[in-house]
Amino acid sequence: MITSKSAIITKLPNVGTTIFTVMSSLANEYNAINLSQGFPNFPVSDELISLVNQNMKKGYNQYAPMMGIKELREVISEKTYNLYNVKYNPDSEITVTSGGTEAIFDAITAVVKTNDEVIVFEPAYDCYVPAIELNGGIPVYISLKYPDYKIDWNEAKNKITPKTKLIIVNTPHNPTGAVLDENDLKQLANIVQNTNIFIISDEVYEHIIFDGLKHNSLITVPELQQRSFIVSSFGKTFHATGWKTGYCVAPKELTVEFRKIHQFVTFSTFTPLQYALADFLKNPANYNGLPKFYKKKRNIFLNSIKKSKFIFVPSKGSYFQNLCYSEISDEPDYDLAIRLTKEIGVASVPLSAFYHDKKDEKILRFCFAKDDETLNRAGERLAKL
Ligand SMILES: Cc1ncc(COP(=O)(O)O)c(C=O)c1O
Repeated sequence: MITSKSAIITKLPNVGTTIFTVMSSLANEYNAINLSQGFPNFPVSDELISLVNQNMKKGYNQYAPMMGIKELREVISEKTYNLYNVKYNPDSEITVTSGGTEAIFDAITAVVKTNDEVIVFEPAYDCYVPAIELNGGIPVYISLKYPDYKIDWNEAKNKITPKTKLIIVNTPHNPTGAVLDENDLKQLANIVQNTNIFIISDEVYEHIIFDGLKHNSLITVPELQQRSFIVSSFGKTFHATGWKTGYCVAPKELTVEFRKIHQFVTFSTFTPLQYALADFLKNPANYNGLPKFYKKKRNIFLNSIKKSKFIFVPSKGSYFQNLCYSEISDEPDYDLAIRLTKEIGVASVPLSAFYHDKKDEKILRFCFAKDDETLNRAGERLAKL
C-alpha cells in the first residue's frame, strides 16, 4: 500500500491545468464568448456525419488495423501526392492516429532518448515539451520575435550541438498565424544536411492558409522529407476537433519506429470515422475551400475591431489572430485575459502561456473559427476598449 503522498514523484513538475481549460471554464462561468480554445462552433458537414453513421450501421465498430484502414491510408497517399508531389507508400509510410497530438507524442517518443536535445521555437503549441521531457529529452528554446515571428535561422544553427536529435516546426503556426516560406525551408535544409537530426513538422493547419499563400509542406524539399514526420489533423480540416483523428506520413524507417509507439499508446483509431474519411477525402472540394472560408472569418473579426486600439498583423494561416494591446493597457497578458472574460465577456488566451518563461509581449490570441454572428458580437465588445 502507498503510505505517503510523496510516493509519486511527478515526471512533469512544470505541468498544471492548461490555459485552455482555465480560460474555457472561466468563459463558461461568466457566460463569455469563448474565443480562447481553438475549436469551431459551427456544424460538421452533414455528409460526413451521415457517412460515419452509415459505417457504424454497416458494422465497422471493432478495432481497425493498427496503422489505420487501408482505404484511408490510400486516399491520404493520393492526397499527399496531389498536393506535394511525393508518393508515400500507404502500407509502410502512413499511419492513422488519434489526433495530431498522438502523432506528435509518438514521433517524439520514437526518436528522443535521455539527454537528447530538441529545438523548439516559441511561442509553441503546448504538447511538444511535455512529450520531450517524458522521454528524458532537453528542450532547447528559440524565441520568435513579434510581430512577424520569423525564424532566425542563424540563431537556430548556433543552437545545434552534437546532442541535437530533433527539430520541431509548425506551419501554419499556432499561436501566431505565421507560415514558413520557401526560403525558410531552404535554410532549414542547409542546417540539417549531413546531420542525423530528425524533424517533426506539425502541419495540422495545412489547409487553413490565406491571402493566396501556398502551404510550404516540408514534404516538398527532399533533404527535409527524408528525415521528417509530417503530422496532419482531420479534426482541424473538417471542423471536428472532438473526433481526435489525424495521421503521420514519414519515410519507412521512421514509420517503423513511429508505429511501435502508436501501437502501445492507442493501438488503433476510431474505426467508423476512418471508413467515412476514406470516402469524404476523395473529394478535394471538401478541403480546398478552407482558405476562402476561414479568410472571410478572419476578416470579419479584424473588421469588427478595426477602430479599436489593438495592433495586429493579419493572421497568414491557422484559425488564430493575435492582437497586441500595448496601446490599451500595461496589465500582464494573463490578468487582462481574465479581466476581459469577466468584464466584457470575451475569452482569449494570453500569449505568455506559449513560452516556457512566460514571456509577456502584451498579446492575446483569439480563435476565429466561430460563426459570423459570434465574431461580430465579440468584435463589438473588444472595439470598445
Ligand atoms: C499546432 C497544433 N498542433 C497539434 C494540435 C493537435 O491536433 P489534434 O486536435 O488533432 O490532436 C493542435 C490543436 O490545437 C495544434 O494547434
